[in-house]
Amino acid sequence: MNVPNDLSKIKTKMAFNLTKRQLVCFGSAAAVGIPSYLLARGSIGNTGAMFAMLVIMLPAFLLAMYEKDGLPFEKVVKNIIRARFTRPGIRTYQTENIYAPFTGRGAVRKEDAIADTKTKSGRKAAKGKGRAAISAQQSIPYISMHPDGVCKLPGGLYTKTVEYEDINYSVASTEDQTAIFSGWSSFLNYFDSSLPFQLSFINRRSHSRGRYKVNIPQADDDFNSVREEFTGMLKNQIARSNNGIERSKYITFGIPAEGIAEARPRLERVEADVMGNFKRLGVSSEPMDGRARLALLHSQMHPGSREPFRFSWKDIPQTGLGTKDFIAPDSFDFRQSRLFRVGQYWGAVSYLQILASELSDKLLAEILELDAEMTVTLHIQTVDQLKAIKTIKGKLSDIGKMKVEEQRKAVRAGYDPDILPPDLITFSKDAADLLADLQSRNERMFLLTFTVVNLAPTRQRLENDVFTVGGIAQKYNCALKRLDWQQEQGFVSSLALGVNEVEIKRGMTTSSTAIFIPFMTRELRMDGQALYYGMNALSHNVIMADRKKLKSANGMYLGSTGSGKSFAAKRELLNVFLTIPQDRIIIVDPMGEYAPLVKRLGGQVIEIAPDSPHHLNPMDVELNMTAGESPLSMKADFLLSLCELVVGGKEGLQPIEKTVVDRCVRLVYREQALGLGNTKTPLLQDLYEELLKQPEPEARRVATALELYCTGSLNLFNHPTNVKTDSRVVCVVLKNMGENLRKIAMHITNEFVSQAVDTNFREGVATWCYFDEFHVLLRDPLTASYFVAVWKMLRKKGCVPSALTQNVKDLLASREIENILDNTDFMILLSQAQSDRAILARQLGISEHQLSYITHSNSGEGLLFYGNVTIPFIDRFPKGEIYNLLTTRPEDMKNETKTE
Ligand SMILES: Nc1ncnc2c1ncn2[C@@H]1O[C@H](COP(=O)(O)OP(=O)(O)OP(=O)(O)O)[C@@H](O)[C@H]1O
Ligand SMILES: [Mg+2]
Repeated sequence: MNVPNDLSKIKTKMAFNLTKRQLVCFGSAAAVGIPSYLLARGSIGNTGAMFAMLVIMLPAFLLAMYEKDGLPFEKVVKNIIRARFTRPGIRTYQTENIYAPFTGRGAVRKEDAIADTKTKSGRKAAKGKGRAAISAQQSIPYISMHPDGVCKLPGGLYTKTVEYEDINYSVASTEDQTAIFSGWSSFLNYFDSSLPFQLSFINRRSHSRGRYKVNIPQADDDFNSVREEFTGMLKNQIARSNNGIERSKYITFGIPAEGIAEARPRLERVEADVMGNFKRLGVSSEPMDGRARLALLHSQMHPGSREPFRFSWKDIPQTGLGTKDFIAPDSFDFRQSRLFRVGQYWGAVSYLQILASELSDKLLAEILELDAEMTVTLHIQTVDQLKAIKTIKGKLSDIGKMKVEEQRKAVRAGYDPDILPPDLITFSKDAADLLADLQSRNERMFLLTFTVVNLAPTRQRLENDVFTVGGIAQKYNCALKRLDWQQEQGFVSSLALGVNEVEIKRGMTTSSTAIFIPFMTRELRMDGQALYYGMNALSHNVIMADRKKLKSANGMYLGSTGSGKSFAAKRELLNVFLTIPQDRIIIVDPMGEYAPLVKRLGGQVIEIAPDSPHHLNPMDVELNMTAGESPLSMKADFLLSLCELVVGGKEGLQPIEKTVVDRCVRLVYREQALGLGNTKTPLLQDLYEELLKQPEPEARRVATALELYCTGSLNLFNHPTNVKTDSRVVCVVLKNMGENLRKIAMHITNEFVSQAVDTNFREGVATWCYFDEFHVLLRDPLTASYFVAVWKMLRKKGCVPSALTQNVKDLLASREIENILDNTDFMILLSQAQSDRAILARQLGISEHQLSYITHSNSGEGLLFYGNVTIPFIDRFPKGEIYNLLTTRPEDMKNETKTE
């Protein structure tokens, strides 16, 4: 993004190529110097008088020519004098009790003794004549803070603060980025010249009181070791979040008013507009009340402190203290030119000098990503549009004059008058462009003060941090310059109050200001029974999400083989097991890899195989369903499709066969339907025998097909259920089966799952279902369509189903499944194969940047989709008991057996 040149460098020239200021200074120098020369010449001779004149004129020359950071000589001197002499360098904590005047001995303050000892150790005791004994409290530049969050500042300015959250910017697609940028630009344009505002980005080191909480309830049972390990892992990740740096963003805006009564309604309107603007960008924001603002100021003035903010409005009349007494630090020390101290901490204020003609949106993001305690502050003041245009026109005519001057010089010297100094050419072009922008496009003029306050426990650390920030600035062709002798002004301006005492301002257009986009990445930080999904790869914060809060809890895990799908699913289900004690878990596991974990969790592993002792009876039915549903017709539906699968062939069941099967199903369940208690659940065999009794020849065909599964060698489904299907964790293993049997087994498993979910639902319990390698479920059109039906139904039954597959192409081959993908709100994408990546990018609208997180990424790294939030995540699960339960890597398994 283009940045206009700093046009303040162009000075309006009055005459003799000198500015007004220079004219006045030189004029007065001459007016004082020449007469004194003339007068002195008589008494001390020519040379002496000459020197005297020079000495007298020197300050005027300095005044005229000296300039530092755009500040003239007298301001620089004023700042130095202010920092060194007029205000005490050390400010101690001194309360001003509002009751003190009534005690009759107003001077006796309880802190006096402490203050005395402190100031004596510093060399400036309060003895200094004319030097105001300013306390730490008095250094905080506001007049009063009201409980509703309105703060009165000197000069009749009233401010409020709104805190806002992040949205996805860094990983968004180019179109989205453009949309956010233009939204942010119009946000900035909302503020007019009577509405100065301040953007604060505060990075604080958090001390455990963080916003994340371990939400695994304590218990004492067989799972203690697993629970302890998982909790330990979570605690560790939380502690590592951002290396303990907590980042927050605020906007403070102010309006001048006569009194609070006038200010309040106007501030409220601005606040509503600001929040509306944020909402349009998809940013959630929250206004801060007085207590919250005080807490924020307290944290800004107590860097590194573990001491919590203790305050309530009731305390004020009770203790007689003012609000500042609750937030002021023990002391400030502003004696040095380039450093300051607050409490025990060291601080340094710098400002960003924008030299580049192009700025990147990464500059601010990169500074904020640093692992350092700091406050980045942008004070922005809109320039009235008409005034801005007038100023630029003025500058343009100045440039014109300078051009003429140069040309005249060139002619005099015999050069080509068309050759102009390059600086002049760029300035004139820039000013013309700027004028055109302001007049035609949606651009405004802003005065921007960009400061960075670094804070560190040691001086060395501080210098390092400042150096790092400086390095980033340099990378983007800017310079970070220390505010000499203005550390106090700089620090005070960094407080989220809306005070700007730094006079270094840079003229910027809307788009060049908006390039400091305050957004990086959304955080997923839900509370309640949220689960852990790894760390945000951009912000390094823990991702805690609750799938049940989504419109549809249905989720998918997609990734190439070995990318960590099963691992992530197992981690999630273990998390569910530990965090949500009532929820049940069902796993359909075609590889038998979940068994160790399920066994460790005391669950039931149901192995379905010809030689397995475990049996599931497909004829099981739950008849006491709620009204409106007919379990029998649902069962009939299922048995029909089962017969269809068994009969096979291209056409499947003929209409007559269907009728016959349906009739037999009803006959088989006759006794149960009538409620003749104690009846045995029928077996497939009963259906088979019933079919044989029917007169139609079609019945015989179906019966013959069924024979293999009843009396034949594949009779594993012809037994009463002999496993605990109501265990909290159930895992159905479908290993070692031929293609034909596998289809049937899948179908029966689907039925089992939907029935279990249904039962749980009626008990008011949620079920988490996992279908690993679920592309095998989709191989056969019949099982596939049945699965799709089950999948759609699960959402409505309080179920949280997850499907895992490495086979994206197959998945998208069928229209129906494609549909599933479109309606999935939760997705974990891990490393993808080249061709799958392209398909997914198209299907899900993944940006180029996002794709990089699923390209050759390590196991456990990828993209998380939660509703409309996309977050790149990294999960490196530590080795330990849990890891061994979750892993499928042969070498891990070997190690495990070795250590046992
Ligand atoms: N989050 C993680 N932290 C540490 N290691 C992991 C993580 N995720 C995966 N791994 C490692 O990668 C291995 C393979 O993971 P996993 O078994 O989940 O692959 P998969 O995607 O299910 O592959 P397949 O499609 O072949 O089943 C795991 O055994 C484990 O060693
Ligand atoms: Mg797997």
